[in-house]
Amino acid sequence: MNKDLDCRAQEILRRNDRGGYTVPTHGLYPFQWNWDSAFVALGFAEFDRERGWQEIETLSSAQWDDGMIPHIVFHQDDDGYFPGPGVWATGKTPATSGITQPPVLASVVRQLWEQEGTDPTHPRMRKLYAACVKSHRWFHRFRDPLGNGLVMVTHNWETGRDNSSEWDAALARIDTSGVGTYTRRDTGHVDAAMRPKQHEYDRYVAILQFGRDCGWDHREIADNGPFRMIDVGMSMELLRANRDLLVLAEAIGDARVADELTNRIALSEQGMDWLWNDEVGAYCSRDATTHESSGLVTNASFLAFYAGVGSRQQHTRLIAALERLTASAAFLVPSLEAGSREYDHRRYWRGPIWLVVSYMVARGLAEQGHQDWAERIRRDSARLIEKSGFFESFSPETGEGSGGPDFSWTAAMWLAWCGK
Ligand code: DGY
Repeated sequence: MNKDLDCRAQEILRRNDRGGYTVPTHGLYPFQWNWDSAFVALGFAEFDRERGWQEIETLSSAQWDDGMIPHIVFHQDDDGYFPGPGVWATGKTPATSGITQPPVLASVVRQLWEQEGTDPTHPRMRKLYAACVKSHRWFHRFRDPLGNGLVMVTHNWETGRDNSSEWDAALARIDTSGVGTYTRRDTGHVDAAMRPKQHEYDRYVAILQFGRDCGWDHREIADNGPFRMIDVGMSMELLRANRDLLVLAEAIGDARVADELTNRIALSEQGMDWLWNDEVGAYCSRDATTHESSGLVTNASFLAFYAGVGSRQQHTRLIAALERLTASAAFLVPSLEAGSREYDHRRYWRGPIWLVVSYMVARGLAEQGHQDWAERIRRDSARLIEKSGFFESFSPETGEGSGGPDFSWTAAMWLAWCGK
């Protein structure tokens, strides 16, 4: 425990608080982001429980009628960000983007509720429970094209791991001829060497335009959109979230939802092997159209422990992959293995460490009996903050911070996990 860093982390959350929601960091991300807010709630809950609940209540109040919880909620205007609400043009109030993000909300709701003694009548838990049921049904309805309980993403931004090399082959097929001109804002806030490249951004915009041009029709986007990837990260996160939601359903006595979730969990447990790549010994994202495996070990591959999937043999191979990472990384867990194509220890999700993923990986490892690895990841994460401060991400080689400074979810991870 380090009292100075505790105070600093609390200060960052307070400073990034815009009244009921928190921006990930000043300047670069001036709105409310979906999975950022879920993790931020865990941080707030350490010193202001009311504000912790409020963070995710504000997020869920932007849920669409079809059940989707959007990836960005534009509570106010800010021309320092592209693409802003006018580009998404979803017509929602409050304005939102038209895609979603990792479904970690139910897991956070369970955690906050358990910290308060597991009262099944807890009104705040019950309201968020209902929002999560609706959101998970949306995933099952629109994002399971193979019917195997895995999650298809229709934009790389949905994964949260925006420029991971896992998407390169699918993105390369995207036609950018109609994109037109636009001005990126991200590279005005942070060093361009830490952000996605221009030709990648054009593809991100082209995918967005497909959604906008079909009026954000989620059926059309899922069936005919230009980007259809089964994401290992979201598949693992949704499986975990379904398990956590089941605990809430049982506590409440909602037998119908409990049955539904039990079936979904069994389906996903069986389906997950479709992502297993025996050559690399890890779960890897796979294209829903071409069925090609990325063949890349990323930090998301290790979420298998968090999701509670894998045979003993698969776990042994995953631990071997973790062991291999320590040969090139001074800190765990890099977002991409050094030596992989396009690895770059400073460029966003092509190498840098992201503490929220490290947190989920470490939780899973501890739950599956690998306390030594869990503790090592926790210690490395704390060392990164002690060395460099509360950055968006960190180099696995030097520990230097990359991306935006004074980052909300990094502060939250200090308070709720690695600084404890
Ligand atoms: C960005 O703008 O880089 C965000 O990650 C999109 O969600």
